[in-house]
Amino acid sequence: MQDIYILGIESSCDDTSAAVLKNGILLSNVTASQAVHEAYGGVVPELASRAHQQNIVPVVDQALKRAGVEKEQLSAIAFTRGPGLMGSLLVGVSFAKGLARALGIPMVDVNHLHGHVLAHFIRESEDDHSQPPFPFLCLLVSGGNSQIVKVNAYNDMEILGQTIDDAAGEAIDKCSKVMGLGYPGGPIIDRLARQGNPEAYQFAKPNIPGYDYSFSGLKTSFLYSLRDWLKDDPDFIEHHKEDLAASLEKTIVDILMKKLRLAVKDTGIKHVAVAGGVSANNGLRNAFRDHAERYGWTIYIPKFSYTTDNAAMIGITGYYKFLDNDFCPIDAPAFARM
Ligand code: KG4
Repeated sequence: MQDIYILGIESSCDDTSAAVLKNGILLSNVTASQAVHEAYGGVVPELASRAHQQNIVPVVDQALKRAGVEKEQLSAIAFTRGPGLMGSLLVGVSFAKGLARALGIPMVDVNHLHGHVLAHFIRESEDDHSQPPFPFLCLLVSGGNSQIVKVNAYNDMEILGQTIDDAAGEAIDKCSKVMGLGYPGGPIIDRLARQGNPEAYQFAKPNIPGYDYSFSGLKTSFLYSLRDWLKDDPDFIEHHKEDLAASLEKTIVDILMKKLRLAVKDTGIKHVAVAGGVSANNGLRNAFRDHAERYGWTIYIPKFSYTTDNAAMIGITGYYKFLDNDFCPIDAPAFARM
C-alpha cells in the first residue's frame, strides 16, 4: 500500500500552523502565534491576516523539514475552510489551493470544529492507543463555541447542544478584560484561580432547557457585581482578583458540567472527551477527573498543545476524509460561519 502523506494548514484565527502526517501518524506540527494583538485586548482581524501572510511560507517549510518530507511526496493538502475570521482563513485557503494546484494533488476541506473534536485521534507513534471508542461525547469549548457533540464515527457527529449566545471562552476573556487583566483571559484567569477561593462569590447561572448553554447572563451578572463592589472600594479588583477568578471559573465549569452530565445520563454514553482552547483550563480538567471517579466516566483530555488551534488536528481530520475520498474542488470558498 502506498503511504499517505497529508499536509494540514490552519489559519482561522491568530495562529498560523502547519503539520505533516504519514499514514495518520503526526510527523511535525509547527505553529507561529501572533503577539501583535496583545496591545489591543483582542484579535485585530486585519493584523491577523497580515501576520498569516508573513508566517505561512516559513511555517509550512518548517513543518516539511521537521517531518523530513519533500513536498513532492504529499498525497493531499487539508486546510481549515471555516469557521473563523475571513481574512485569516483566506490566507490558508489560498495557499492550500496554490500548492495543491502546483503539485497536482487533491485538497481536503476541514471544518475547524470537526478538527478540534478529532484532535483526540492525533497519534505521535504507532503504539499510541489512547483514542476514544465510538460513540463518545465531546465537550467542545473554545473562544467561539461551546457545544456537546455526539461523535458516532470520524466523519459522523451530531451537535446535541450548544451556546445560544456567548461561548465559555468568550465569557472568560470578556470578564478578564473588564478586570483589566489582559488578553487572552483564559490562561490568566486559570493561573489566578488556583490561588483563590471558588466559593467567595456567587454569579448568575442560566436556566435553559435541554443541552444548550448560555453565558451572557453570567457575564452581565459579573459586570454588575463588579460595578457595585468598585463603588465601595476602587481597589476591589486588585485586592480580590484571585477570588474573583476562582469564583468565575467555578461558575463556568459548573455550567459546562451540568449539561454534560445530563447528556451522559440521557445517552448512556460514558466515554467523555473535552476539546478546544478552554480544555486547557485546570478547573475544567479537575472537574473531568472528578466526574470520572464519581460517575465512572472514561475521560479523554487532549495534550495541551492540541487543545488550542493547531494544524495537527486539521491534518488528522483531513486524513480520515481522505480515506473516505472526500475531497473539495479548487474553487471551494472559505466560510466565516459554517
Ligand atoms: O480553541 P481556541 O484556541 O480558539 C478558538 O478556536 O476559539 O480557544 C481559545 C479560547 C480563548 O477564549 C482562551 O481564553 C481560552 O480558549 N483558553 C482558556 C485557557 N487557555 C485558553 N480558558 C480557560 N483556561 C485556560 N487555561
